Amino acid sequence: MSGSRPGGMIAIIASLVVTGVVTFLIYLAFAESLDAVRQPMTTFVPKSDNAELVHGVYKLIFWLAGAVFVGIMALTLAFSLVYRERPGREARQFHGNSRLEVVWTLIPVLLVVAMAVPTFSAMSVLSKPAPQGALQVVAVGHQWWWEFQYPELGITTANELHLPVNRPVNVTLRSVDVIHSFWVPQLTGKIDNVPGHDNHLWFTPTEARPEPYLAQCAEFCGLSHANMRFRVFVSETPAFETWVKDAKTERVAPSADLAKAGEQQFTASGCIACHTIRGNPTAVGKIGPDLTHFASRTTLASAMMDRTPENVRKWLHNPPAIKPGSLMPNLNLSPEALDKLVAYLDGLK
Ligand code: CUA
Repeated sequence: MSGSRPGGMIAIIASLVVTGVVTFLIYLAFAESLDAVRQPMTTFVPKSDNAELVHGVYKLIFWLAGAVFVGIMALTLAFSLVYRERPGREARQFHGNSRLEVVWTLIPVLLVVAMAVPTFSAMSVLSKPAPQGALQVVAVGHQWWWEFQYPELGITTANELHLPVNRPVNVTLRSVDVIHSFWVPQLTGKIDNVPGHDNHLWFTPTEARPEPYLAQCAEFCGLSHANMRFRVFVSETPAFETWVKDAKTERVAPSADLAKAGEQQFTASGCIACHTIRGNPTAVGKIGPDLTHFASRTTLASAMMDRTPENVRKWLHNPPAIKPGSLMPNLNLSPEALDKLVAYLDGLK
């Protein structure tokens, strides 16, 4: 075979072009310089030990599969040009080449082994119990919000999870109603919250930062599944300890008249039946989020909205209009009642 034959040259050039195009597409799909992979809910920029581990397996499989894809495409193109039927030459077939068969059996076996070994080794790490000294957190799924308990610290909060950097956290996953799924893309893969059964996951956040890690329920759980968001704040240990200290305190009794009236309104409107506010002896409900430190959270309504007085008012005015199916009903509150409640809630630092 001589390289000077036009068919051969075309085949080589075409293969190079295909390879180049496919490689570029893979780069586009994968490049960490692109905005798409830097979105807040990316798995491409892991910020915990275990997310890093999973990402490593992902990258290995991605590149192996990419190499197989490009290789097969290029060879298919090259062969179909070089060995095509032409005047004066018939297409050739051959059978029973043992050496070839051994080679094309061995290559996939090696590829599968190369993917299986790191996969199973990562799975064994992830399924181990959390390391000694891990922070214990219970994440309870509700339709449609998240309850976070720190049993050792005596803290219960909602929709915003605070963690110290570089300390393993052991998350026990529960649900009070249907199946939900706890997912913080940059910190951990998703595991279901199953009613009547405890699941577990653990990870060690490796980057403290002011902006939260965005998270989301990842199992369809009804009308407002898409609204079942939450946030994870990872901070340096002293800042986390300050948060713990604040979170453990009881609510500060309102001093301003409007807020005081708001606390009475909170009782009169029946909010106390569903919400706990530690330090307010009438508010001991367990169905809705603990509001003891509501005003120290950045969001409300399962992280659907920023916690501004306007948004709190909008929410209280008609919760199911904002979160369809919300268990919190429209209480038909008067504008005056809304003013009082907003003032009261705003003081629950
Ligand atoms: Cu909870 Cu989807």
